[in-house]
Amino acid sequence: MRRMVGEHRLSADQLIYPLFVVPGKGVKEQIDSMPGVHHFSIERLVTEAQEVKRLGIPAILLFGVPEDRKKNSKAREAYNPKGIVQQAVAALKRSVPGLVVITDVCLCAYTDHGHCGVVKDGRVLNDPSLEILAKTALSHALAGADMVAPSDMMDGRVGAIRALLDKKNFSHLPIMSYAAKYSSSFYGPFREAAESAPKFGDRKSYQMDPANLRMALREVELDIKEGADIVMVKPGLAYLDVVAAVRQKFHIPVAAYNVSGEYSMVKAAAQKGWIDEKAVVLETLLGFTRAGADMIITYHAKDAAKWIKEAK
Ligand code: PBG
Repeated sequence: MRRMVGEHRLSADQLIYPLFVVPGKGVKEQIDSMPGVHHFSIERLVTEAQEVKRLGIPAILLFGVPEDRKKNSKAREAYNPKGIVQQAVAALKRSVPGLVVITDVCLCAYTDHGHCGVVKDGRVLNDPSLEILAKTALSHALAGADMVAPSDMMDGRVGAIRALLDKKNFSHLPIMSYAAKYSSSFYGPFREAAESAPKFGDRKSYQMDPANLRMALREVELDIKEGADIVMVKPGLAYLDVVAAVRQKFHIPVAAYNVSGEYSMVKAAAQKGWIDEKAVVLETLLGFTRAGADMIITYHAKDAAKWIKEAK
């Protein structure tokens, strides 16, 4: 009876699984701060992606972790056609047909200072960063990415990426923008995973103030005007009101990012035996769905897909 009257239900179709790719061969290394999440070299990544697809998850979100010595002030490695993400995308498209490959477009893992844009005199410069971001997105498209996801939060980057993609014959390539991305302490474990923590200061000059909801709606509106096809709210759990407001006001698909800190808290409590991991994860994902997220980016995706199947 409850099944019949349930207002929302979970499906693997809603899930997007984030993956981290590193240089080298034969690497599958657990990330300390994120139990169950790994750094993969390209061939191991392909095997993992095949498993993800087999579980019925339609898409992955790919993050590259380049070698330290390749980082520089202008993030040149971010748009290297032979860079780690570009090579990984090509391998995935070759070996895992049918899996949607979304690439994170940002500079923080590629700059020596760890900021998401170009820095001058201790300030992150918005406009000079746009060209580099657009070139990076184009390099992902050329490698075969199915969708690009800019996460840098510079103003105007969706427009800049859209214009360059259109000019280079990628007008069909969709953009999933991290539209309402807050300056959050929940990204801690990710920054260890992506080796992308800022070396000075914080990201408050470009990411949003957690106090603001109207600002999120303004950011989403701007990104849609600039050409975003899917808008994302991030983090998720402390911002479900933002997900709900965006869902109500706009009529394009909405994604929510169940970020690293949210994941690691659940894992840690589960390891201590303080919570029932499966029940908590499924309840959390259902909460995202109830708030109005069409898609959920989550490190729990593989487990959740298995659990959803079992419950059927
Ligand atoms: C890069 C980026 C971050 C995340 C996704 N893309 C970190 C940040 O902005 O510092 C966070 C993801 C997570 O915590 O799971 N800008």
